[in-house]
Amino acid sequence: MKRKKSLSTFWGVLIFFADIALVTTIVLLTYSYAVNKVTKTEIAVIMLCEILGLTIVAAFGDWVRRNVLVNKPVDKILNVTDSIARGDFSVQLTVEHSPRHYNEFDYIMENINRMTEELRHTELLHNDFVSNVSHEIKTPLAIIQNYAVCLSDDNLDEAKRKEYADTLVKTAKRLGELVTNILQLNKLENQRLKLTAEQVNLADLLDECALDYVDAIDGKGLDLFTDFDDVTVTSSRAYLKIIFNNLIGNAVKFTDKGSVSISCKSENGKAVVRVSDTGCGISPEVGAHIFEKFYQGDSSHATEGNGLGLALVKKVIDLIGGEIGVSSVPSQGTTFTVRLS
Ligand SMILES: Nc1ncnc2c1ncn2[C@@H]1O[C@H](COP(=O)(O)OP(=O)(O)OP(=O)(O)O)[C@@H](O)[C@H]1O
Ligand SMILES: [Mg+2]
Repeated sequence: MKRKKSLSTFWGVLIFFADIALVTTIVLLTYSYAVNKVTKTEIAVIMLCEILGLTIVAAFGDWVRRNVLVNKPVDKILNVTDSIARGDFSVQLTVEHSPRHYNEFDYIMENINRMTEELRHTELLHNDFVSNVSHEIKTPLAIIQNYAVCLSDDNLDEAKRKEYADTLVKTAKRLGELVTNILQLNKLENQRLKLTAEQVNLADLLDECALDYVDAIDGKGLDLFTDFDDVTVTSSRAYLKIIFNNLIGNAVKFTDKGSVSISCKSENGKAVVRVSDTGCGISPEVGAHIFEKFYQGDSSHATEGNGLGLALVKKVIDLIGGEIGVSSVPSQGTTFTVRLS
């Protein structure tokens, strides 16, 4: 919050010197009045008493001022910061003045209130994240445990043994992917992934990404259409791969018949990549949440994944300064559009 320029130091100095001027004037007036009537010793005593009396009055006035204007808000702030230091983020300070009359303490209180609000929000996200991760890990672990028990049965025939072993490998692979995604997301959120900008030819990169999904596309009997212009961007190759792998992966995963199309064009000085599919589409209700961590349109876990892919994509897009948009018609298909400068 921007602080209004304060005049309190100016007024403080003015009052301090006005006090001194007042004391000096009264002392001098008394002296000139008394000089002809009383002895020098009596004048000295009168002046001493006056100075002492005025000093006591000024000190008392300052003590009251400090108690009301300084000690009271400082005590309030100390109590609250003490609670925050002990991990209680539910505390809030009541700012007594209206924003037009804020003093320095009011600004500090406002900032502390915003800080506790931010800490509460982060704590909530952290708790949600931990419970989501635990939930996502528990399911594959249970599968691994059950199948491992089944495999240890000596009477198991060869076909069943192979089936169980395959399931074990597949589940362990998914668990590995989940951990990789969580670590990657964590690194991105803490900005610990190195962003090394280089010249990247998008057509080559998209070809490379699509190649990873050719088996899955063939396996589902889908068509793959590509339309790549020769577009180059200066960005991090590793980051771009995270974006396009996830978008192409989703297009394949959520499409049972039809096609997946990938295009790359230069439009208005920006590189534009579109990943379209003729799959199940996204309803507006689901669309509002797809970039959230652990969100899946189908919460029954019927489709593979953990709802981390698009959260990763969004984080990367924000880091490299691009834009992402989605348009979809339920039961007809979806298009994700990425714009990079
Ligand atoms: N091309 C798409 N077609 C239909 N729905 C999609 C598409 N892409 C994303 N979604 C919806 O958005 C949700 C979130 O996508 P996201 O990639 O984050 O998670 P996921 O693919 O379910 O899991 P993960 O990416 O962790 O493997 C999906 O569960 C799905 O409901
Ligand atoms: Mg995904």
